[in-house]
Amino acid sequence: MLPKCGGILLAACLPLYGGATGSAPLTYYKDVAPILQQRCQGCHRPGEIGPMPLLNYKQVRPWAKAIRSAVVLKKMPPWFADPGYGTFSNDRSLSRAEIDTLVSWADNGAPEGNPKDAPQPVSFVDGWAIGKPDLVLEVPTEYHIPASGVVPYQYILFPSGFTEDKWIEAVEMRPENPSVVHHMIASVRPHNPEYEKKHPHGQYFEREGDPDSRDRSRTFGAAPDSENLQVYVPGGVAPALKPGQARLIKAGSDIMFQLHFTPNGTPVTERPRIGFRFAKQPPIERVRGVSVFNENFTILPGDPNALVQTKVRLMQDLKVTALQPHMHLRGKDFEFRATYPDGKSETLLRVSHYDFHWQLTYFLAQPKLLPAGTILECIGHYDNSANNPNNPDPSSAVHHGDQSWEEMLKGFMDIAIDLNPKTKEIFGTAP
Ligand code: HEC
Repeated sequence: MLPKCGGILLAACLPLYGGATGSAPLTYYKDVAPILQQRCQGCHRPGEIGPMPLLNYKQVRPWAKAIRSAVVLKKMPPWFADPGYGTFSNDRSLSRAEIDTLVSWADNGAPEGNPKDAPQPVSFVDGWAIGKPDLVLEVPTEYHIPASGVVPYQYILFPSGFTEDKWIEAVEMRPENPSVVHHMIASVRPHNPEYEKKHPHGQYFEREGDPDSRDRSRTFGAAPDSENLQVYVPGGVAPALKPGQARLIKAGSDIMFQLHFTPNGTPVTERPRIGFRFAKQPPIERVRGVSVFNENFTILPGDPNALVQTKVRLMQDLKVTALQPHMHLRGKDFEFRATYPDGKSETLLRVSHYDFHWQLTYFLAQPKLLPAGTILECIGHYDNSANNPNNPDPSSAVHHGDQSWEEMLKGFMDIAIDLNPKTKEIFGTAP
């Protein structure tokens, strides 16, 4: 007998089964697995940061309801750029149709379907995503991550060993145990004997003051030789430079790693590495990590929507290739906005739901040219009220500082600039 619903023949009820796309019921193999491969398995596989693997039906089935709610609430996959501003090459957000597919599949009892419909499994690169590096540097000392508890950010400084200036066409950080790594940042800085006295090479330290960032009145930074090389997040991609672009590491530079570990139940030792591919030809453009920030602000106790902002004037033409908002636990939203010399203004990136736990970099699909004279603003809001579940202390006034109970307004950017710019200056004071 044909199944009926409400006295109507099956045919009339089909849309219920067919979900978003019509007739046949959505199945794991045909409809769901391709989405999970593309958008989820980068993190949800053994050894990666996702708490459970989502590689096959048996693993996925118990999570159907949780997947449904995670994608409806846009908690997963982690991606925070508001749609409508900018196009990013590492955008992993789900389309409306993909969300609808996962929802109707879960609502229909998460059927398995026919294994013959399964997509080819993806083979994940376990080696270097940038290809074979020309040079790999390993931190000199391993770090012992406990089974549980909170590990404060660890910093470690070590020499690059470069005896000549080097152009780098690709750089990648790799942990041994991605599942305990929340994020890592590699930066390059000129060797500074004073700083090294305080923080000897090869010894982990918890940051308590960087002589380079003590001037509270600074609002932008482009120290000539000190910059971020990469922000690593699990499941992220190594930033690809376009042909003709390269980063410069000066002879004698030191490398600094900032490491944020999240214990996962088993003690492990970790010794992250960084790999470099050197440019084979002289570059046409230099890519640099710079930042626009404000270190001179007070967020009042209890303020649910404190505004902190800063602006700079661009002293030369530049192309923006990547953007990364950075705030701490009270961060709510962040925007990069450019106002061009002709007065028109444009939002380059807006993150309306900032989440400190995900330090994402947004790679622009097409580099954005900002002409000299453009005013670039970073605008952030902070929730210092008791309603913010992440707030370490709503009763305190908050200032700039490195620690996560202090705050930051920092817009990291990768920019591509001319090799021989008319002026060395990148940022100047804005009116
Ligand atoms: C960049 C890495 C990453 C990607 C990509 C990712 N996840 Fe996750 N996922 C995590 C991490 C880490 C957690 C645990 C912490 C959290 O919830 O933020 C998590 C948690 C979850 C949870 C909640 C588990 C629980 O304990 O309740 C679900 C469900 C989930 N992910 C589903 C997905 C789905 C579906 C996708 C793809 C559409 C996806 N995730 C993509 C990293 C990722």
